[in-house]
Amino acid sequence: MHDEQLTDLERLVLSRRRFIGAGALAGAALFLGGGLLGRSALAEGVAAASGSPLMGFANVPASTADTVTLPPGYRFRPLISWGQPLHADSVPYRGDGSHSAAEQLTQFGDNTDGMSFFPWPGDANRALMAINNEYLNYPYLLAHGEHPQSLEDVRKAQAAVGVTVIEVRREGGEWRFVQGSPYNRRIHANLPIAVSGPARGNDLLKTEADPQGVEVLGTFQNCSSGQTLWGTYLTCEENFSDCFGSSDANLEFTPDQKRFSVEHASVNDNYWHLHDARFDVSKTPNELNRHGWVTEIDPFDPDSKPIKRTALGRFKHENAALATTKDGRVVVYMGDDERGEFIYKFVTRDRLDTRDLKANRDILDHGTLYVARFDDGNGDPDHPKGRGQWLELTAGKNGLTAENGFASQGDVVIRARQAGTQVGATRMDRPEWIAVSPKDGQVYCTLTNNSKRGGDGQPVGGPNPRENNLYGQILRWREAGDDAGASTFEWDLYIIAGNPVVHPGTPNAGSHQINADNMFNSPDGLGFDDAGRLWVLTDGKFSNAGDYAGMGNNQMLCADPGTGEIRRFMVGPVGCEVTGLAFSPDHRTMFVGIQHPGEEGGSSFPDHQPGMRPRSTVIAITREDDGMIGA
Ligand code: FEO
Ligand code: CA
Ligand code: CA
Repeated sequence: MHDEQLTDLERLVLSRRRFIGAGALAGAALFLGGGLLGRSALAEGVAAASGSPLMGFANVPASTADTVTLPPGYRFRPLISWGQPLHADSVPYRGDGSHSAAEQLTQFGDNTDGMSFFPWPGDANRALMAINNEYLNYPYLLAHGEHPQSLEDVRKAQAAVGVTVIEVRREGGEWRFVQGSPYNRRIHANLPIAVSGPARGNDLLKTEADPQGVEVLGTFQNCSSGQTLWGTYLTCEENFSDCFGSSDANLEFTPDQKRFSVEHASVNDNYWHLHDARFDVSKTPNELNRHGWVTEIDPFDPDSKPIKRTALGRFKHENAALATTKDGRVVVYMGDDERGEFIYKFVTRDRLDTRDLKANRDILDHGTLYVARFDDGNGDPDHPKGRGQWLELTAGKNGLTAENGFASQGDVVIRARQAGTQVGATRMDRPEWIAVSPKDGQVYCTLTNNSKRGGDGQPVGGPNPRENNLYGQILRWREAGDDAGASTFEWDLYIIAGNPVVHPGTPNAGSHQINADNMFNSPDGLGFDDAGRLWVLTDGKFSNAGDYAGMGNNQMLCADPGTGEIRRFMVGPVGCEVTGLAFSPDHRTMFVGIQHPGEEGGSSFPDHQPGMRPRSTVIAITREDDGMIGA
C-alpha cells in the first residue's frame, strides 16, 4: 500500500473489522442495529410473517432458467466478465475464444471465484476489488475448444488464472468497473512471487530456475480468499496439482505426489506439462512443492510483489477466514478441499498492531499451525454435536521428527497433509469455505460432499455422519472460552443438506431446516454480512433429476443462525457454480460470482448474443428501493 494512504486505510479497515474475533460479542448489537435500520416496510412484513428477524425477502423457487433469479424487488447487472479489457489500450473482447496469450494478459481472467472489496481511503465512491480467477474453461477459453495444443495455448491459460485487481467506482448509485485504472492488474501463473516463512530456502523448493528456493513463478487454481485486518488480500491455491503431469508414462510417483493425486494425465489435467517442462514432474519434480500456498497481495500497490506465506501450510487451500484471539493475535482458519483431508488454523506469534497497520505486513510469517481432531459426538442424526481439539504441527512435537520425515518446520509446512496424518487429524467431507460469525465468533465450515465416506479409511461418524455423502453439511464450532486461540472446541452440524422429497424419513432427507422449498446440495461458498446473516453458495449437481430432483441450478441461500431458518435468495444460470461473495460497506450492493455458466453447454450468460460464448461473470445485486441486501 502507498504510505500516504495508510492513515485513512488504517481507519477504514479498523472501523470495518474491529469486532471480529475477540471483540465479536461486544460488536453484535451494533451490527444487528445496522442491519435493521435499512429495512423497508415491505421487508418488515415478510420478515414478521416468517419469524426470522434477519431475512426480509421472499424465498426464490428452484429454477433451471439461464439467468440470475432473485426475490421480488431485487435486480442484478454484470460488473465484469471473462475477457473484459482492463486497460485503456486493451483490445476489445471478441467473444469467440480467439484472443492471444498476450491479449489475455490485459483482460479479466477466467472462472471468477473468491473476492474482496477494499474501500478507498477517504472516498466512499471509489474502491478496489481483488478477484480470484480459479481455473480454465477450455471449450470457451480456446478458439478450438480442446485442451491446449501448443505452448501459446498454455501461455494463454496461464494468463487467464490467478487474481485480477480492479478499480470500481459508484456512479448514480451503481458500482461500475473502471477500465484504464492504473490499479487494474493481472496476477497470473508466470508472475514472480516471493517465498516467505519456514519453507523459504528449503531443499524441496529448489529448482534449476530458482536454486535458492526463494522465488516462485505464479499463483494459479486460486479458489477462495481472505481479507486481512491490515488491508491486504489472501488468495488460496487449491487444485494446483491439476496443472501438473508427467511426460514419462512410466514414472512412479512418490508418496508426496500421490497425496496430491498427481497423474500422468487425467480428466482434470490442464495439459500444461506437455508444452511447459516446469509442470512436468518427470523433469521438474520440485515445482509441485512451490504451489498449494496462501499468497498475500497488496491491491493498493500495483507494483508490489505478492508473497507466498508458507507458515500457513501447503495443501489444497479453499479460503482463509480471519479472527483474533483474546490477547490480540491473528488467527487464520483454513480448509483443505479434498475427500478425507483436514481443517487447519494458524495462530500468529505476534499481536496485531492496531496503531500501525503497516507493522503487521509480515505477521503471517511467524506462528503456530494446528489441525483439527473431532470426537464421535452424540450420534444424533438430526443434530450431531461433540468436542474437538487443535493438534499442534510443530517440528519436534507430536511425532513430527526427522525420523518421520520432518527435520524442520519447512518440512512440516510443505508436507502439512502428512503432518496432519502423523498427529491424528480427522479426515473430513471436503472442507470448503470457513466463515467467522461477527456476532458471536462461532466458526462455520461447509463440508461439501464426499463420495468416499464410508470407505478409503474414512469412517462414518462425528461431523461426517453419512456414507457416500451426496449433499453435504455445514459444520460449526465454538472455541473454548470464546477465544479463537483456544486448543479445544465444541462442534455441531448446523445444517445437514438433503432431499426430503426424494428421500423422506432417511438421513438423506437432511436436517429439520431443509424442506421442499429450500433444498440444495453441495454447500461451498460461505460468508457473513455485518448483520449476522449467513450466505451459503452452492457448487453442486445441477441435473435437477434423481437425487437432485427439485433443486434446480446452483444457487445462493441465506440462513439465520439464530433461528436456524434457511431461505433461497438467488438461483444462477444454467451450468454455473455460484461462488465469490463481497459487499459494499453500506451493504446496499452485493457482489456474487457466476463461475463457468454453460459448463456442460446450454448457456449464453451473460451476453445472450448469437455467437458469443458464455463467460464467468461477477454480478452486482441491488434492491430497487436501494435498501440493504437481505434485510
Ligand atoms: Fe475451488 Fe473447493 O472449491
Ligand atoms: Ca469452492
Ligand atoms: Ca466445490
